Amino acid sequence: MKFLTGNEHKFREVRGLAEQFGFHLEWANLSLPEIRGSLREVALAKARDAFERVGPVICEDSGFFVEDLNGFPGEYSKWVFQKLGCEGIVRLAKGSRACFRTVAVYYDGRPLVASGEIWGEVVEPRGSGGFGYDPIFLPDGHSRTFAEDPLYKLENSHRFRAFRTLFKLLKKQESPV
Ligand code: IMP
Repeated sequence: MKFLTGNEHKFREVRGLAEQFGFHLEWANLSLPEIRGSLREVALAKARDAFERVGPVICEDSGFFVEDLNGFPGEYSKWVFQKLGCEGIVRLAKGSRACFRTVAVYYDGRPLVASGEIWGEVVEPRGSGGFGYDPIFLPDGHSRTFAEDPLYKLENSHRFRAFRTLFKLLKKQESPV
């Protein structure tokens, strides 16, 4: 099964989970142009586009939603990260509640869609693992940021939760009761 993403971190985060469900993930290392829209709209559009190129495929879209900023950067997370980085978000919203969200899609001509989220707090950057906003995200009930504890991220993140649900749906589809 192909996972289309230009982000190797995302591929590595999902590969092990896929194996647990008996799916072997191949990395289709392609960054497709993204439409503007909700995570769901972007992920679905990307999956349809990817299907035309590589056949049955998995895609995802993710974002970082900061409560004190009314959900910003949310759908604009990629662009804002390039412009402001973690430091910019900390300057604007240190101490705020925040969550990561992922919408994961499997597409083989028809879509299967699943989402996942995790809540926590915006903190000063800590740690060197992961990518993006990981250093400034302290998950609820945990004392280390995602960047300080990538293993924790692997088994608790928005991405883990979305793909766990997606793989369960796929398994059910493979063996309907
Ligand atoms: P994308 O469009 O799904 O690649 O994600 C948009 C941006 O959100 C990325 O460029 C990252 O800056 C950020 N992002 C997405 N997922 C994560 C994550 O798991 N940890 C930290 N930042 C993330």
